[in-house]
Amino acid sequence: MARVSDQRRSECDRIVVGVGGGIAAYKACYVIRDFTEAGAQVRVVPTESALRFVGAATFEALSGNPVSTTVFDDVDEVQHVRIGQEADLIVIAPATADLMARIAQGRADDLLTATVLVATCPVLIVPAMHTEMWQNPATRRNVRILREHGITVMEPAHGRLTGADSGAGRLPDPEQITQLARSLRAGFAPRTDWSDRKVLITAGGTQEDIDPVRYIGNRSSGRQGFALAEAAAQRGAQVTVVAGNTAELPTPIGAEVISVRSTREMYDAVHARANDNDTILMAAAVSDFRPESSAENKLKKGSDDDALTTVRLVENPDILASVVDARHDGKLNAETVIVGFAAETGDQEHTPLEMGRAKLRRKGCDVLMVNDVAGGAVFGATENAGWLVDKHGDERVVADGSKLDVAFQILDAVDRCMQDR
Ligand code: CTP
Repeated sequence: MARVSDQRRSECDRIVVGVGGGIAAYKACYVIRDFTEAGAQVRVVPTESALRFVGAATFEALSGNPVSTTVFDDVDEVQHVRIGQEADLIVIAPATADLMARIAQGRADDLLTATVLVATCPVLIVPAMHTEMWQNPATRRNVRILREHGITVMEPAHGRLTGADSGAGRLPDPEQITQLARSLRAGFAPRTDWSDRKVLITAGGTQEDIDPVRYIGNRSSGRQGFALAEAAAQRGAQVTVVAGNTAELPTPIGAEVISVRSTREMYDAVHARANDNDTILMAAAVSDFRPESSAENKLKKGSDDDALTTVRLVENPDILASVVDARHDGKLNAETVIVGFAAETGDQEHTPLEMGRAKLRRKGCDVLMVNDVAGGAVFGATENAGWLVDKHGDERVVADGSKLDVAFQILDAVDRCMQDR
């Protein structure tokens, strides 16, 4: 498929993986392997202290390239300039507070900082440190400076840190790092211009119980909703996710996640928060029907009762339509932007896009992301494509890309819709 070859081509790029001296340095190995397996040429540039955590031999074996930390190695090749000039992307994971301070100051006192100073390609810095260090005003200032310089600084994850403490400062999952790196490389430069926005997202599939062991569900993995959460948080927004079933995905960085199971639980959780948010993105695959009643005990096959062969269904509330109604009735701020999703297969008479246009009108939302799901495409996949249509008549093709790439495009569609008001 076109997307795979595109990705292969872009992965022939030269990627510099910088590694700072923190306990999370071992996770850089997974980042390096992910890039090399996709065909990239990876050059690992650790700091001296990174090599106290992971040996140069590991980085050399994983990348297939020599490793040095100082500008005084291979001086004849002027590598402190060449590596940075030739890089298509630089990913520094983990970045310590000290390393960020040095880059923010424009210092070039080792090979990694010299490489960053020379580079004109996108740079992604992935911090990992103790919460106190992350929250220290000096670090906050350095993060601001780095972002002003056009460097993308990923938000750290919350969770267990070295030792017994936990909080903000954990290195995100390697897959979350490489996804964001690929989005940057694909030209989706996350700005931090949503810092005054509050975003509510629904994600995953709802499940409707038949009895304590069986339910009616759907094939949604929650990936697109979680990618939206990551994209919005990376742009600086305060993000809340109301999540149904979401496979086993890592928690989106920088978002609060509220877990629900059924459509009615999702309805209640959304309405309890809708008015606190200015943007509502409804990516969940919501079950339109539920069993009229859910049995208290497990239903037995072969019993006289026909409860297992005939499940009477009743209709669930349409959460998206109800949020649109709430805005219409003045229960939500009139400026709230509401985005829906449509998974369409099309039929003999209508294409998925035509069905999407009709759904946009029917649901009354501001923007609709239309997916072509013929043959089960999209569900559980890491990539997505389709069309973005809005109530002002703006229609755009969303080219094949990762769900994070698609998420950044959906946020851009929200911006356009707000500008067109
Ligand atoms: N949606 C919702 N509540 C429902 C059904 C759908 O909030 N009970 C939302 C979904 O989260 C999505 C949008 O409505 O953002 C469209 O979902 P979809 O299943 O495509 O639409 P339906 O209204 O169920 O239309 P149909 O199944 O007839 O295509």
